[in-house]
Amino acid sequence: MMNIIHNAFSRREFIKQLGLGAAYLGVAANIPFAFADSGLILPFRQNAAPLLLHFNENSLGMSPKALLAAKRAIELYGNRYADESFEAFKSKLAAYHQVKPAQLIFGNGSTEVLQAIATYAANKNAVMIEPNPTFGALRGYCKAENMQVIQVPVGQDFAVNITTMKKQASAQKGPVLVNICNPNNPTGNIVDFKVLFDWINNAPDSHLFLLDEAYFAYAQSNPRYKSGLDLIMQGNDNLVISHTFSKIYGMAGMRMGQWHCEY
Ligand SMILES: Cc1ncc(COP(=O)(O)O)c(C=O)c1O
Repeated sequence: MMNIIHNAFSRREFIKQLGLGAAYLGVAANIPFAFADSGLILPFRQNAAPLLLHFNENSLGMSPKALLAAKRAIELYGNRYADESFEAFKSKLAAYHQVKPAQLIFGNGSTEVLQAIATYAANKNAVMIEPNPTFGALRGYCKAENMQVIQVPVGQDFAVNITTMKKQASAQKGPVLVNICNPNNPTGNIVDFKVLFDWINNAPDSHLFLLDEAYFAYAQSNPRYKSGLDLIMQGNDNLVISHTFSKIYGMAGMRMGQWHCEY
């Protein structure tokens, strides 16, 4: 059961509930569906259909090395539960990001983990605050949980209005989930890391931040951009960072099931 202390988020609690420390949300899914001779060939958009720009798929596809590894894994181990290899993978990914394995959580698409965050925040009676426009999955899940959602319009230059978001967040009496997609989808704008880190470092315990960094790899050369992983490495435990294999790694279709949510 969750304990509500002063009606605020217990900083480590979300993580504990899910068996981790501060979290990086990776994505891994096995898809043992057959292409050949099975009649299970599904209507993909690979060549014929128009490119759906708002899907932000990687049109180059996944790396040939990753493809080979996936094919071999399915051939050799598709019938085995993946516990052991998953632990090995988790350790490698943790080492790569310089965090502890217990700080990682995985979902069927990062959207599944966004859903877990929404459920956690709803159990705390939190209000969710986010820019408008932004990627809508978290909003959909929060609304499905009957949470209040406050949207703060971006500026004329599409910049996320951190000043107003901050004001809105501190005006709340209870817990607040702050959703910042950085770089933002669909605007592509980044939030300057100094501004963002300053807010996160000085926020009250009632704030939990979700940094959805689905596109972080595309912003790394920008000197004004930094992943929130730096904060996690510093020991901050008031944020969750979401990454995905769907974009830069070209694995959006490597999943079974899909999130469906009206927003
Ligand atoms: C900002 C953002 N977060 C998350 C996702 C969903 O990613 P996943 O495929 O990991 O569920 C998308 C997909 O478009 C996205 O744009």
